[in-house]
Amino acid sequence: MERRRVLVTRRIPQPGIDLLTKVCDVEINEEERVLSKEEIINKIRDKDGLLCLLTDEIDEEILRAGSGLKGVANYAVGFNNVDIAVATQLGIPVSNTPGVLTETTADLAWALLMAAARRVVEADGYTRAGKYAGWSPNLFLGVDVYGRTLGLVGLGRIGQAVARRAQGFDMQVLYYDLSRLTPEEEQALNVTYCSLPELLKKSDFVSLHVPLTADTKYLIGKDELTMMKDTAVLVNTARGPIVHEAALVEALKNKKIFAAGLDVYEDEPDLAAGLAQLDNVVVVPHIASASVQTRTKMATMAAENLLMMLAGKCPPNIVNREIYEG
Ligand code: DGY
Repeated sequence: MERRRVLVTRRIPQPGIDLLTKVCDVEINEEERVLSKEEIINKIRDKDGLLCLLTDEIDEEILRAGSGLKGVANYAVGFNNVDIAVATQLGIPVSNTPGVLTETTADLAWALLMAAARRVVEADGYTRAGKYAGWSPNLFLGVDVYGRTLGLVGLGRIGQAVARRAQGFDMQVLYYDLSRLTPEEEQALNVTYCSLPELLKKSDFVSLHVPLTADTKYLIGKDELTMMKDTAVLVNTARGPIVHEAALVEALKNKKIFAAGLDVYEDEPDLAAGLAQLDNVVVVPHIASASVQTRTKMATMAAENLLMMLAGKCPPNIVNREIYEG
């Protein structure tokens, strides 16, 4: 078969690249930066396939410029960065990387939860700065995790993985989602369904695990933050715009909630004004899936998806399945 031409918008772990280069001519952006829209448009014109990242906004203009595209493989489980409606209209299949990053992302949600609850980052900075002058009864008092209530907004794969970990901490787990689990599933996971306002009012920890859609944008804004306990911790490893970040800054500043742990931001890579100056927030740079093992699995999964689409076949992780059904 004729070698297909593929664009990879950023260097990903080598096993993924190796799979592609066996049968395709691969152009990789080797620079440590996101390609501009114009650069992607210029590079995509003669390509058959695109492997892109969540930092690439694959919009209508890009999809139309890639008139020969037989598939777009997104190197992420979230795919809000790709205009799926336009891709579907143009007959371009799009895939993502679900499953392989579930446990790694759940681990980071817990790392943020624990770090924010026990003020680990703040205390680390204090100790490194040579300020530790001896044990003190009131030094860095945090909030307890064990035995408390965890509220999960979204109970898909990642939400469920977070819930499983909560059992080790003997927590009561509440969840809110558009679709409810069966009673048997709820019992097996030891989770209780409730409305979003109820969850916000009752939880000591609120962790977000919904995809970013028009409906979930600003799901957590000023009103929702006001409903939370002033001792509560908010964790976001999903997508930044699910939280109104300026409202969160105000809530943290005015101690309306105890703390937050954030992996994602409304306008990445920028942080809302004032956020980085606050002590009661732990901020990390969108690293929820960043383990060597998981990023490697994501690379091979994205490459395998793309190879299937280039061969005209439905990939295992198709997002717009209707392409193959129509
Ligand atoms: C994803 O895959 O959507 C994650 O945000 C990557 O870390």
